[in-house]
Amino acid sequence: MRSQIVGSGCYLPSRVVTNAELASTVDTSDEWIIERTGIRQRHIAADGETTSDLATAAAKQALAAAGISGSEVDLLVVATATPDNTFPATATRVQNRLGMTGGAAFDVQAVCSGFIYAMAVADNFIKAEQARTAVVIGAETFSRILDWQDRGTCVLFGDGAGAVVLRGAWERGTNQDRGILSTHLHSDGRHYDLLHVDGGPSSTQTVGHLRMEGREVFRHAVTNLSQVVGEALRANDLTAADIDWVVPHQANRRILESTAKKLGLSMDRMVVTVDRHANTSAASIPLAFHTAVADGRLSKGDLVVMEAMGGGFTWGSALVRL
Ligand code: ACO
Repeated sequence: MRSQIVGSGCYLPSRVVTNAELASTVDTSDEWIIERTGIRQRHIAADGETTSDLATAAAKQALAAAGISGSEVDLLVVATATPDNTFPATATRVQNRLGMTGGAAFDVQAVCSGFIYAMAVADNFIKAEQARTAVVIGAETFSRILDWQDRGTCVLFGDGAGAVVLRGAWERGTNQDRGILSTHLHSDGRHYDLLHVDGGPSSTQTVGHLRMEGREVFRHAVTNLSQVVGEALRANDLTAADIDWVVPHQANRRILESTAKKLGLSMDRMVVTVDRHANTSAASIPLAFHTAVADGRLSKGDLVVMEAMGGGFTWGSALVRL
């Protein structure tokens, strides 16, 4: 049985911070940021606005699009590296706000790959018939873990949330060819230090700040992302020519261009939102997905590949027939 995406939604905090505004507080420029990353602006959560607030808004929109009420949901997975609290899971707070009282709600932590990991978990629950209706959310407030004095990292990230509703295609007459065709997950802990937060409850008892070796991350990202898209295609006897759209994790326009080139795809097959959203970690794929659904680029029957890489390293892909 396949899991099908039956609705999507997103939420972006109202405050937009431009490159020019950042350049008034750190030694950077609009030109440098655009040339190296493609980023023009990012959304930043208001004081007191938390990851669960963003996640709840995105999930409500996705449920409304699917025509499903929160009480029908029996699995809720939130991908986040910036939870409201160390525990309980942010997912349980979102669960309560959606009116979902049964089933399971928990967080998945794979940083920028989190949404792919969460989709894989939910898909496998549905395939195993342990869940019928899942809400999968990527939500982050990375602004809270940035070192705003470090120009090498603070210009790259933003806050936001995106969500999809997954349903098992169990009804008679449902087209069983549509849905998640396969998911592919990888991690390699040898690279833990290349992209990490230098704090945490068990190590420093502080929240910490994001630290990154940008060039090394870039190099691994292009290799791993093209490899994991190739793996998805081979597993389904498909080629790059069959792909209608790539909905990639939005880290950096140059990573998107290099990955597209390695796959032999033109950039007009890639959904790009990094210019407006910056890197929103686990939220970036569902934000880009919903953006392209809302503007009519993605439509029923399209073959879509989602791919991401993040700290750990973790990386993965999901191949979906819409
Ligand atoms: N403004 C101006 N100058 C800057 C800035 C800035 N914001 N940041 C760094 N610089 C300077 C550096 O200090 C350095 O100056 P120097 O030559 O005088 O020492 C110079 O620019 C070059 O620095 P590099 O770090 O070598 O620049 P690079 O071309 O590698 O670009 C970047 C940096 C954009 C971070 C790039 O390495 C990158 O995109 N890496 C991928 C990282 C990423 O996207 N991570 C996201 C999380 S992982 C993921 O999502 C896949």
